[in-house]
Amino acid sequence: MHVTIFGTGYVGLVTGTCFADVGNDVVGVDIDQNRIDRLNGGEVPIYEPGLKEMVGRNRRAGRLTFTTDPAVAVVGGEMVFICVGTPPLPDGSSDLRAVESVAKTVGELMTEPKIIVTKSTVPVGTSDRVRAIVSRALAERGVEIPFEVVSNPEFLKEGAAIDDFMKPDRIVVGSDSPKAIESMRELYAPFNRNHSRLMVMDVRSSEFTKYAANAMLATKISFMNELASIAERVGVDIESVRVGIGSDPRIGYSFIYPGCGYGGSCFPKDVRSLERVAASVGYDAQLLRAVEDVNERQKRVLFQRVWEHFGGKLAGKTLAVWGLSFKPNTDDMRDAPSRALIESLWEVGAKVRAFDPEAMVEARRHYPAEVGSGALILADNEEEALEGADALVICTEWRAFRSPDWDVVRASLKRPVVFDGRNIHDPERMEREEITYYGIGRGASITQPELDPLDGFVREAVGSVYADGIAQGAPPT
Ligand SMILES: NC(=O)c1ccc[n+]([C@@H]2O[C@H](COP(=O)([O-])OP(=O)(O)OC[C@H]3O[C@@H](n4cnc5c(N)ncnc54)[C@H](O)[C@@H]3O)[C@@H](O)[C@H]2O)c1
Repeated sequence: MHVTIFGTGYVGLVTGTCFADVGNDVVGVDIDQNRIDRLNGGEVPIYEPGLKEMVGRNRRAGRLTFTTDPAVAVVGGEMVFICVGTPPLPDGSSDLRAVESVAKTVGELMTEPKIIVTKSTVPVGTSDRVRAIVSRALAERGVEIPFEVVSNPEFLKEGAAIDDFMKPDRIVVGSDSPKAIESMRELYAPFNRNHSRLMVMDVRSSEFTKYAANAMLATKISFMNELASIAERVGVDIESVRVGIGSDPRIGYSFIYPGCGYGGSCFPKDVRSLERVAASVGYDAQLLRAVEDVNERQKRVLFQRVWEHFGGKLAGKTLAVWGLSFKPNTDDMRDAPSRALIESLWEVGAKVRAFDPEAMVEARRHYPAEVGSGALILADNEEEALEGADALVICTEWRAFRSPDWDVVRASLKRPVVFDGRNIHDPERMEREEITYYGIGRGASITQPELDPLDGFVREAVGSVYADGIAQGAPPT
């Protein structure tokens, strides 16, 4: 099939490359000239395991090309995928301008029947809007060309995107057109070989399914983070609790890791967008709002720990930060918890020495001024990030951070203090290594509150981290 993909970001590039890999003829279109030049020059502008090789292979085979010229792309493609960004507007609703602009372009340029597929994450009703925009553009040209609009949300995970695309656990197709559904079946057949994972539903339900999935996953994380906050105040180790509840198949082990909050380009914006959609139809989505509020609070937990540990005296201190991407195996720093931490540290006059296995280019792009001023020092490796720092903070659970040489950590830091935002280290081991260790929700190992069996918890006996009022004054909000 001839496939056109609008948007060559994480979703568009992976989608196009995977379609090309199974033999389709794919053209990727983007408005970002630099991105297209890099792709045409053999570079892959994002980090996604395995993607570079796959793009190279399909470019060499002539099945995958890139252009900024939509005319070239639209004319050739029987199927046109919209994979452009849908970032949040200030009020939390989705900015659909890129999707709408693609719809208009397709309507203006198409000369043959098309199946237009919305793969971007879009609020309910957007595919209807795409249909209306294309129809209007055709009417303005005074032509009648048949077309269908299909919703096909993407569920890939950054860091495992190719695997997810090649071996999907579901392919959601929203359409009421038998012809369009048949074309989608044909296009996805190579990814469906042992049994069909294609689920056909109406367009609106398909659009909503994507938000439902992300909202559920975000809810699991915020739920666990809320429990972690309670756990540490009552002397409970949330890691034991996690294992204790995950064994229940109704709960399961996935997505119940407490940490320093969820980030990335999807969960934060999708939860907010769904909440805004609910509000627009007069429904107050209390749970979604709480999920978001808990996450915002959680993204400040590491900074609060650091602040409390240093008695509020952070001006002139240097913190080593391991992990900048919002999760391992990606270079994506959009809405990453690391950013909340380092920006708070800068506000109180601290410096950051950071290392991430893949996100260093992104870090430089996000914070050119801070790199220039020396507020952000980008180290070449994890050990260099530690040199002369006052403490280490781990923001992302990259595998390389799981078994560090603790002798080096101890020798490089001014004082051996580790704030572990992902609970990848064992508090008992840290104690044996004589490292002061702060995890998330690891109450039992940090401070044992004294329990008065008659009166409940004696709050005064709890360490300052857990006290209601913080001796040094509250950290800046
Ligand atoms: N990143 C993920 O893990 C993921 C997963 C599932 C769904 N999604 C959704 O997929 C969509 C794309 O996400 P992404 O992470 O790939 O975004 P991205 O920011 O990485 O890429 C978007 C690309 O679209 C291009 N673009 C913008 N306007 C354009 C236009 N008019 N014509 C052509 N190209 C245009 C941009 O230049 C950019 O290269 C979003 O709606 C997102 O919510 C993302």
